[in-house]
Amino acid sequence: MRRSRYQGVYTDGKNYYTPTEDPEPVYGEKIVREGKKLYRRWDPARSKLAAAMYLGLENFKFKDSAILYLGAATGTTVSHISDISHIVWAVEISPISMESLVSLAERRRNIIPILNDARKPEEYSIFVDSPHVIYQDISQRDQVEIFIKNMEHYEPEIGYLMLKTRTINVRKKPREILKATTKLIGEKFTIKEIIDLKRFQKDHYAIVVGR
Ligand SMILES: C[S@@+](CC[C@H](N)C(=O)[O-])C[C@H]1O[C@@H](n2cnc3c(N)ncnc32)[C@H](O)[C@@H]1O
Repeated sequence: MRRSRYQGVYTDGKNYYTPTEDPEPVYGEKIVREGKKLYRRWDPARSKLAAAMYLGLENFKFKDSAILYLGAATGTTVSHISDISHIVWAVEISPISMESLVSLAERRRNIIPILNDARKPEEYSIFVDSPHVIYQDISQRDQVEIFIKNMEHYEPEIGYLMLKTRTINVRKKPREILKATTKLIGEKFTIKEIIDLKRFQKDHYAIVVGR
């Protein structure tokens, strides 16, 4: 295993891995042992952030950072980010997903699970302290508005929006939705990078946003 181009992330030349102290897989991922060290394979079919990395993501700001993660689900991507970052505040609206997220957080020191609606950044701001990064993966019609609202509220250095175009409008072409989205975000922030995730996730884009 050697260091990859992404800080904190390792590679065997083919796959990406995050180092871990937890010998239990979180979502059935392969765990590789090298001497005393353990590495978890980061599956691009299960995590849009890993998919973006396989597709050449340029801006990767997760190592030792404080991350506000919106739409944490059961913690698949959160777990890999937790392996390399300082702290992850993980917001999720579903009480069922939250149960798995809480048991994951009990095994790790740096995940703070928050059961709340990401539409209400002011409600969870008592837990969240100056995040460097906002990462959002929420399949709702108003996902872009939710992202902008949180970006404005917390003013992080960088934001990652995993855009699911079909949830916004099934009848419109994904490219059209992307165009409208970048126009809206571009009025307030700088678009740093757009990655079409279709090789791994149909009708999804990763949009990286700076201030
Ligand atoms: C595509 S899944 C997230 C997968 C996850 N990011 C991962 O890679 O492991 C979307 C999640 O967003 C959650 N969600 C939907 N609306 C939400 C809202 N308004 N606030 C917070 N979470 C929300 C859903 O319950 C679901 O768990």
